Amino acid sequence: MSMTETMDAKPARDPGPELAEAPLHIARPKEPVTGVVTRNELCTAGRRAAGFVRHIEIDVSSTPLAGSFVPGQSFGVHAPGEDERGRPHALRLYSTASPSIGEDGKGGVIATTVKRLIDERDDGPGLFVGVTSNYLCSLQPGDEVKLSGPNGKRFVLPARPGDHDYVFFATGTGIAPFRGMVLDLIREAPESKVALVMGAPYETDLIYDDLFSKLDEEHPNFTYLPTISRHAQRDASPGCYVQDRLDRDAGTLIPLLQSDRGLIYVCGLLGMDVGIVQGLARSMPEPWLSRYLAIDPEVADDASSWTRKMIGRKVKPTRRVFLEVY
Ligand code: A2P
Repeated sequence: MSMTETMDAKPARDPGPELAEAPLHIARPKEPVTGVVTRNELCTAGRRAAGFVRHIEIDVSSTPLAGSFVPGQSFGVHAPGEDERGRPHALRLYSTASPSIGEDGKGGVIATTVKRLIDERDDGPGLFVGVTSNYLCSLQPGDEVKLSGPNGKRFVLPARPGDHDYVFFATGTGIAPFRGMVLDLIREAPESKVALVMGAPYETDLIYDDLFSKLDEEHPNFTYLPTISRHAQRDASPGCYVQDRLDRDAGTLIPLLQSDRGLIYVCGLLGMDVGIVQGLARSMPEPWLSRYLAIDPEVADDASSWTRKMIGRKVKPTRRVFLEVY
């Protein structure tokens, strides 16, 4: 057999979908632009949520950032002031939560979803308060904020969104990009099937729950599966993680992925990526599983022993799987 024949015999790697064009670095971190906060409100399901998560809208209509974000991208926030060593606070990136048309329908107002970081330091009981998250969460309508971006071009929707169906998995504020993506898909790809699995510790901590519940009622192609980890679900079934939906709601999620149209997006806590690939291996039959994961035969028999280190090495998500964990 000639060399050419050998190479031809190797199955070509699925290139995955062509992605939407995502403009980058219109405002550089050294020359941030000034946006103005127009709205800042709690966006958890209950006032007694365990954490404080706020939906913050910023008017960028008079800056070069207007109309330049697509869902899945982020922007840099420059908190004023200096750290204890006298240096300006480090830039922090926040995901846009808006659809491509922004909150105002014209791309002039972008939103993000921010959780106040409140913690104790490892070395003692002193309170640690995240600088930028608390700065953002305390801004009032009318306040100015310095922004840069857009950042990121890999975790975005495909260029032809209507060619695909989608399963989105989010934990906590990992929901931000999916708010924008779901709103874009409902408007631009009404035939696509979309399922959103959102994980929170308690029902009170679900984020944008009213919006997604309403979209679920109004759009037969959109399914919202809120998933509570620390108490029973709304249907009284026991608490679980988002990946457990792949077993429990296999009837909804798996058929949506058993086609050449299926794409999976995962955003949230580090560790949920392991759970998702294990869940897929448990629930998805071949030949579909290999459309999403290239699994080394050495480890194929025991998904329960997979670790984070193996992701990208022994268990490689294909280009139909988009992971953003932090
Ligand atoms: P739990 O904290 O009960 O273990 P938040 O960011 O608002 O705290 O929510 C994160 C959600 O993700 C919680 O329900 C949390 O559950 C859950 N979670 C924690 N670790 C994982 C993991 N490895 N895979 C999936 N979900 C997770």
